[in-house]
Amino acid sequence: MVQKVVEMNIVIIGFGNIGRSVAKVISEKDLGLEIVGIADRDGCIVKENTPLDVMDIVETVEKTKKLSSHPLTKTDMTTNDLIDSVDADLFVEMTPTNIENGEPGLSFMRRILNRKKHLVTSNKGPLVIAYRELTDLAKENKVLFRCGATIGGAIPILSLIRSGLSGNKITKIKGILNGTTNYILTKMFEGKSFDYTLKEAQELGIAETNPTYDIEGIDIGAKLVVLANELGLNTGFNNVKIEGIKNITKEDIENAKKEDKVIKLIGEISKNSAEVSPQLISKNDSLAVDGTLNAIKIECDLAKEITLIGHGAGEETASAIIGDILEIKKVIENENKSNNF
Ligand SMILES: NC(=O)c1ccc[n+]([C@@H]2O[C@H](COP(=O)([O-])OP(=O)(O)OC[C@H]3O[C@@H](n4cnc5c(N)ncnc54)[C@H](OP(=O)(O)O)[C@@H]3O)[C@@H](O)[C@H]2O)c1
Repeated sequence: MVQKVVEMNIVIIGFGNIGRSVAKVISEKDLGLEIVGIADRDGCIVKENTPLDVMDIVETVEKTKKLSSHPLTKTDMTTNDLIDSVDADLFVEMTPTNIENGEPGLSFMRRILNRKKHLVTSNKGPLVIAYRELTDLAKENKVLFRCGATIGGAIPILSLIRSGLSGNKITKIKGILNGTTNYILTKMFEGKSFDYTLKEAQELGIAETNPTYDIEGIDIGAKLVVLANELGLNTGFNNVKIEGIKNITKEDIENAKKEDKVIKLIGEISKNSAEVSPQLISKNDSLAVDGTLNAIKIECDLAKEITLIGHGAGEETASAIIGDILEIKKVIENENKSNNF
């Protein structure tokens, strides 16, 4: 077996669907990354003398749904213990989203940054509550913080804004930022009822058991807050006007069809407003994508208009997280190179 060259030690916090997808990619691809710690609600695994067999841990958790079923799990070790003690370069925080108070992710993120460790997250909850505080904390501690997976899943919207469009003045970003509601609306246009489609989406694992955040537009509202802050706007959740899809009637759908249009739940942000609402969209519009797909249109002065379409959720989200980790790795490598001169 060819030995991997390891240049960056990674810790995974939250070993659910996304945590395991990220672990699989790191284990399967030769990216110069090694997982040296994993924390889940019921315990932690830490690398000791030999590299962790990450695929064996993933398979155990996929079978039993518990990290503690794996013999290496220390059930008396908490996530905080792991953050305080493990020798790592970068933490990936992937615990459940909570937009009421950001926990448990917010406390983990503060702790990681105060330990002067780089941080990547897919969890938008802490960013809705404390975006500025967390980015300031990262700066103070001279570490990097990326959150590309919090908006649009695999769609690299934040890295495009940060690098490819950096000379542009962005005037508006609008799009479909929630796959569950897009799936429900697509099926409603095929003639199925809201209730039937929601139940079907839950059975297929597309909608959560409690779909309130999706249906009422709250999930998109939270994503707009992160997007606004990334654009340098000071938008809090209370500044976002939100309407979900519950009030869309059969008649609304028939009327849209007559005009060759579709109804999509759109999140839209510009300098002076942030809004989530069902909108009539021409069938030919680049945002008129179906099923669980997401689509994001950026309007700006130089590039004019760009639309990105892709998977807004699911294991494809690992792509955005890995992209963030490798971007940080590259920055560190460049800094090391320039320090050698
Ligand atoms: N799923 C997607 O497609 C997607 C896309 C973009 C962003 N995200 C975001 O990414 C994050 C992870 O999503 P997911 O789908 O992987 O969720 P998930 O399957 O529910 O995984 C979250 C994991 O975190 C664990 N956890 C809970 N409290 C913890 C604690 N105090 N310490 C350590 N671990 C803890 C959970 O354990 P228990 O199961 O025991 O509670 C679970 O294993 C969420 O914030 C989500 O919003 C998800």
